[in-house]
Amino acid sequence: MLKEKIIKIKEDAQAAAENAKTVEDVLQLEIQFLGRKSEFVGILRQLKDVSVQEKKEVGQLANSVKVEIQNLLDQKKKNLSSTFDAQVEKIDVTIPALKMRRGHLHPLTQIQNEIEDIFTSMGFEIADGPEVEDEFHNFDALNMPKDHPARDMQDTFWLKAQRNTDKRQNDTYENINERMVLRTHTSNVQIRYMEKHQPPFRIIAPGRIYRNEAGDSTHEHTFHQFEALVVGDEINVGNFKFIAQEFFSKFFKKEIQIRIRPSFFPFTEPSFEFDISCTVCGGKGCSACKQAGWLEIGGAGMVNQNVFVASGYPRGKYQGFAWGFGLERLAMMKYKISDIRLFHSGDLRFIKQF
Ligand code: PHE
Repeated sequence: MLKEKIIKIKEDAQAAAENAKTVEDVLQLEIQFLGRKSEFVGILRQLKDVSVQEKKEVGQLANSVKVEIQNLLDQKKKNLSSTFDAQVEKIDVTIPALKMRRGHLHPLTQIQNEIEDIFTSMGFEIADGPEVEDEFHNFDALNMPKDHPARDMQDTFWLKAQRNTDKRQNDTYENINERMVLRTHTSNVQIRYMEKHQPPFRIIAPGRIYRNEAGDSTHEHTFHQFEALVVGDEINVGNFKFIAQEFFSKFFKKEIQIRIRPSFFPFTEPSFEFDISCTVCGGKGCSACKQAGWLEIGGAGMVNQNVFVASGYPRGKYQGFAWGFGLERLAMMKYKISDIRLFHSGDLRFIKQF
C-alpha cells in the first residue's frame, strides 16, 4: 500500500516538474512534494505503525525516491535559471536611460570664477592671503593702530594663539609676538602682496572673511569679499571709476553707472562708498533699489600713504586705489536671493537652482 503511494508521488512529481515554467514553480513543487506538510512526509510518519520487514523495504524505497525527486527538481531549477539569465541578458535599447545625477560648483564659486575671468581679461592678477592672520597685516599695517577707534568698525574674532613674526618698523624688521585674528576683510592681502611685489601692478584678491556678529538675512559671521588693488605712478579716482564701471557692466551684462559718496576707511584717503546704478530699473527707481535708482556695493578709496610705508614703499612715490565688496551681496543681487544664510545652509533645493 505505502509502496504504491510512494511510486505514485514520484510519478506525480515527475509530471509536475515537466510542466514547471519558472524557478518559482519548482520551489513550489519542492514544498508540495518534499515539504514538511507533504503527503510524502506524511507517509514516512506512518512507518512506525507497520511491520519491521515492511518498514525496512518502504524506508529504503522512500529514501531513494526522495533523492530522485530532489535531484530532478534541482536539475529543473538549474535549467530554468540559466534560461532566466539569458532573458536578463537581453537589453531593451528602447528603454529611456536613467538620468545621471551630477554635481556642480557652488553658486558662490561660480560667481567667483566669473569675476576672476572678467578681471584677468582686464590684465589683473589674482592674489591670495591667509584667513588666519596676524594683527599687523589685518589692522596695524592698514593704518589701524591698536588704539585707533576705527578698530571698532569691524567685529573681530581674536584667537588665543600668538605668532612670532617679523614686523616692519621704520625700514627695519622687528621680531615680535603678534596677536592673531580670523581676518575681518581681504585688505590684508594688500599688505601681503606689496611686501613681495613692486608697482606697477593690478590685483584682485577674493577670499573668505570673518566678523564676530549675529546673523540675520543680510549678515553672516563667515562670508566672502573681493579686494581690488591697483598701484602705479599716476593712478587716480578716474581710473577706479572706469575699472569699476567696466567690471560691473560685464558682470551684470548691461550698462552700469558708478556713483561715489564720501566715506571713511583708515587705509584709504580720500575714502568713499560706491554705488552702482540699479541692475533692475537702470536708475529710474523700483522696489529692488527702494526707489533710489542706486544699489550700495562696497568701500573704496585712494591708498593711504601710511599703508604704502607699512608695506615697505617710500612715502609719496606711488598712488593707488583699492576697493572691497561682499561677494554674497553681489550674488544676491544677480540672482535675487533674499537671505544670505541660504548660501551655507546645505539646502540642496537652493543649491540645485544654479
Ligand atoms: N576693507 C573694507 C571693508 O571690509 C573695504 C575696503 C577695501 C574699503 C578697500 C576701501 C578699500 O569694509
